[in-house]
Amino acid sequence: MAITVTTASGAAPSPGLRPGGLPPVDLGPAAALSCRECGTRFPLGPSFACLECFGPLEIAYEFGSEGAEELRKRIESGPASIWRYAPLLPVPADVASKPNLNPGWTPLVKADNLGRELGFTAQLHVKDDSGNPTHSFKDRVVACAIEAARAFGYTTLSCSSTGNLAGAVGAAAARAGFRSCVFIPHDLEQGKVVMAGVYGGELVGIEGNYDDVNRFCSELIGDPAGEGWGFVNVNLRPYYGEGSKTLAYEICEQLGWRLPEQIVIPIASGSQLTKIDKGLRELIELGLVEDRPYRIFGAQAEGCSPVSAAFKAGRDVIKPVKPDTIAKSLAIGNPADGPYVLDIARRTGGAVEDVTDAEVVAAIRLLARTEGIFAETAGGVTVGVLKKLVETGQLDPAKETVAINTGDGLKTLDAVSEAGMTTVIRPTLDSFRAAGLASA
Ligand SMILES: Cc1ncc(COP(=O)(O)O)c(C=O)c1O
Ligand SMILES: [Zn+2]
Repeated sequence: MAITVTTASGAAPSPGLRPGGLPPVDLGPAAALSCRECGTRFPLGPSFACLECFGPLEIAYEFGSEGAEELRKRIESGPASIWRYAPLLPVPADVASKPNLNPGWTPLVKADNLGRELGFTAQLHVKDDSGNPTHSFKDRVVACAIEAARAFGYTTLSCSSTGNLAGAVGAAAARAGFRSCVFIPHDLEQGKVVMAGVYGGELVGIEGNYDDVNRFCSELIGDPAGEGWGFVNVNLRPYYGEGSKTLAYEICEQLGWRLPEQIVIPIASGSQLTKIDKGLRELIELGLVEDRPYRIFGAQAEGCSPVSAAFKAGRDVIKPVKPDTIAKSLAIGNPADGPYVLDIARRTGGAVEDVTDAEVVAAIRLLARTEGIFAETAGGVTVGVLKKLVETGQLDPAKETVAINTGDGLKTLDAVSEAGMTTVIRPTLDSFRAAGLASA
């Protein structure tokens, strides 16, 4: 039985369908591109906007005919990376044999100490994605985009980035033998800049914020200067986005093929949140998990909270903002997927909330102190929002909850620079005792 998910209407597409003359591409179960707004189908290719209505394109699948039990077994015997889910991704079946960073299969930590402090009576988990190859969840999306880049014959990989994506593209390009040229705002944290620059590709700082960088990249795509470049989050965006579904798959598999009741996810462009929802719905449709209600919550920093503001005001339209927050990885003032995030939060009975920079710092320290997990500012936003959602009664601490830590604190050391040595002593026992450190 072929199961086509996420297509709004129309007949099932044929796998690999391409315009006249072009050879079919092998991107596994990906069958076509489908407009999220009007459902019009397009052949698989490096396109991202609907020619009919300019809506965003996403992947429509024809999944294999095997039953849920067989598929579950196949996944469980697969590699300890996102490639265990290759049958559900736009990648060739032999993807694991190609040079790639092989991200994913990160720990789902039972956060009992944090849960206790926040008043949880049900299990709280932290999905800790800081252990990916370049220390953020962006390795997942780049791993998928790079397979599309290979299929469409690109030799240069590029992106507009708030920092983490630049590092993920630089590293993946180095491993897979692509040239890379990535674009970031010029004033990012040193940890992000070094992490993006060390892999040897071109790293271009743009005098402006992320929204300026993104606008510039959109211009570059339409210009001969950028011809033949695969921009992972622009012309390869439909393929890139699918990588975030693997967070949903992993969480459910790690729970014993069960949906969590509540998930808290940070928002920059909103792509990750929308694709986690897509991944959960696919698991239900494929019979891999039992259908039951789940609630999705989005997290933003107050200094860049256009989605949270729209949610609270009951608006459907996102008003772009000029970001001003220490959570630079989430500093997108005009988030492309913002309206879809609103839909998902409302449809699932979730919410979108924001916290101040001071709350972000306190939450980084709270997570580190209670669970031994050092999150970057995006993780501080997520945990800070989790705390606020419980305190304001928006999230139920009696329901099983997962909060996603998407990045590593080593990249944003300045945020917690007051942490460090609690005292300095001379190398003598007297000095040690005088400091009040002796047990007796
Ligand atoms: C660490 C981290 N978390 C979350 C996000 C949000 O991703 P999205 O743009 O998919 O909403 C980003 C985006 O750059 C990020 O770097
Ligand atoms: Zn359309």
